[in-house]
Amino acid sequence: MSKHIDGFSKLSKTEKIDWIVATYFSNKKEVKLLLKQYWNSDHKLQQLHDEFIENTITNYYLPFGVAPNFLINGEFYTIPMAIEESSVVAAASKAAKFWKNRGGFKATVISTTKIGQVHFMFDGDDQKLQQFFNIVKSKLIEDTKHITKSMEKRGGGILDIQLKNQTKKLKNYYQLHATFETLDAMGANFINSCLEQFAKTFKNEAQHFELFTSEEKNIQIVMSILSNYVPNCLVRAEVSCKVDDLNEDPSISAEDFANKFIQAIKIAEVEPYRAVTHNKGIMNGIDAVVLATGNDFRAVEAGVHAYASRNGTYSSLTHAEIENGIFKFWMEIPLALGTVGGLTSLHPLVKIALEMLHQPTAKELMQIVAVAGLAQNFAAVRSLTTTGIQEGHMKMHLMNMLNQLEATQTEKDRLTTYFKTNTVTHSAVVDALSELRTK
Ligand code: MEV
Repeated sequence: MSKHIDGFSKLSKTEKIDWIVATYFSNKKEVKLLLKQYWNSDHKLQQLHDEFIENTITNYYLPFGVAPNFLINGEFYTIPMAIEESSVVAAASKAAKFWKNRGGFKATVISTTKIGQVHFMFDGDDQKLQQFFNIVKSKLIEDTKHITKSMEKRGGGILDIQLKNQTKKLKNYYQLHATFETLDAMGANFINSCLEQFAKTFKNEAQHFELFTSEEKNIQIVMSILSNYVPNCLVRAEVSCKVDDLNEDPSISAEDFANKFIQAIKIAEVEPYRAVTHNKGIMNGIDAVVLATGNDFRAVEAGVHAYASRNGTYSSLTHAEIENGIFKFWMEIPLALGTVGGLTSLHPLVKIALEMLHQPTAKELMQIVAVAGLAQNFAAVRSLTTTGIQEGHMKMHLMNMLNQLEATQTEKDRLTTYFKTNTVTHSAVVDALSELRTK
């Protein structure tokens, strides 16, 4: 069977499945059944999901969990998390519980502006271009009024446009570098529409600028696109308590724990190999909430990691210190999030997630997401510097292994109890299950 097909997108969903199954699978009946098993029986709900993307053939489920007891700026939240990795939700819940008895989390939004750029090539006199820009700048803004009107009514819009000469980096390369406030919207569509209009106006007006030679009039627009690097859309999350109050683990004193924890953070500050894993742990918390609330986790990931290398070396996003007997742990992180528009008003589970969070503004969601990241990092570094990460991980992984081995509910119950006091390894689980089955 040919693995190539023309006009695939025009086939019905069933026809698409038929082609895929016929082309790639030998166990055709099972695969077809499985793909269809994941369809929702509610036709309208299924159609909604089908239409999120192109060529949908089925749904791909992720667990939607919640981490309760997050005390943030004096208010309790139950945080929704969509994630497949075992132990992330448990770790978040544990950190929430730990800090609720120590004053809770504090979070503050530092700034909320976003950037978009029109990248273009200009082969000519730099000063004339600057003159042209100064004249055309107000028209650039005026011509986007049909896009910005309602955003401006709510207090947002275009904050500034600058002309940037980048010819030292690349021959003839310039930018219109624009700053936006998009309020509760993530703003990608808004920003990109404004940028494309800037580009049109800029190119058109250049044709009529008398000082330009005919060659200079020929500005070449390369592309217009928002930037996912948002160092000025920044939120800070922090926790603090007396060092003495950190005590929970009888095997280590509060002071030793605080010092070891701070050492672990300092290692992640100076050592990129560790920093990447350290920050990955932060993103376990961040991505899960970003996904549950219908936001773009790829955009967040890209922006966060760029921010983690802003000083030239990839480094920890979190920091910790002891000052006058007080343990402080904090993070500043760029997060471009929305609570209106996009998936937020379409995906039924996203609507539930946002309602659970008291219909947050984008700023409030930034705070909640940053706290989820900080909590996740606290839980990870705490385990790493005390019991080690595998004890908790393997306990959570036990259920995955039991499912893989097709354990019954009774077997799962018996073995969960057994492994409360025994070390979980793959072979130990296989052995224990087969012993149970032969009994
Ligand atoms: C695993 O998903 C995340 C950790 O590796 C994070 C860390 O090492 O800090 C546990």
